[in-house]
Amino acid sequence: MALYALGDLHLSFQANKPMDAFGKVWKNHEKKIEKYVNKIVKPEDTLVLTGDHSWGRKLPECMEDLAFIERLPGRKILLRGNHDMFWDAKKTERLNEEFAGRLFFLQNNFAVYKDYALVGTKGYTFEGPFYLNRRGQILGWDEEKEAQAKKLVDREMARLRESFRQAQASGYKKFIMFLHYPPTNILEKTSPFTEIAREYGVEAVVYSHCHGERRFGDSIRGEFQGIRYMLVSGDYLNFCPALVVE
Ligand SMILES: [Fe+2]
Ligand SMILES: [Fe+2]
Repeated sequence: MALYALGDLHLSFQANKPMDAFGKVWKNHEKKIEKYVNKIVKPEDTLVLTGDHSWGRKLPECMEDLAFIERLPGRKILLRGNHDMFWDAKKTERLNEEFAGRLFFLQNNFAVYKDYALVGTKGYTFEGPFYLNRRGQILGWDEEKEAQAKKLVDREMARLRESFRQAQASGYKKFIMFLHYPPTNILEKTSPFTEIAREYGVEAVVYSHCHGERRFGDSIRGEFQGIRYMLVSGDYLNFCPALVVE
């Protein structure tokens, strides 16, 4: 039995959004997802998909994408990504009712894997605009947008705290934390997300959202403050699910 993660499938079976334009790695990427997930994930395993599942704008436009995810092996847990327009943040419960026993939508709740509580939320991080000089060094950034980003970080932190609170109230002491956005932006060493990970002594922080070579290093990868940070963007992993814990 194992816990795997993979992010940013960006499926578009019903939307006209070919991903090939984003580079070679995206060519027939849904075929790669099918192939690698079927090769690696066993029916008894758990697979957390860390957001940006579908390009559909509304739920009926995502049904084929979600059906594709359903057909993948193992228990599937979904996190909300910034492109998941079908997932109204206030209607997670409704999604969980509709897809009960098939898919689990992780937000303002938690899931269980062995003695771990799986907690998570979309997260948020300030992504600029940054003002750079010719050498690519940061000279400044849009401060109004940064202030707005802080509000979104607060809202996501409240959701994440609720997830931890419920898990702890149910007696869980071991946690794995999932985010869609990276835990820190390119200006930060730490953030409210790294702080809460430390506060609860989580085993690992798993995130995605970063696409393309130039973005893969935007946040923390590897060991930091005694916690394992894992980037699991589909294109970073060539769509092979990453092992989180066994
Ligand atoms: Fe994405
Ligand atoms: Fe994203």
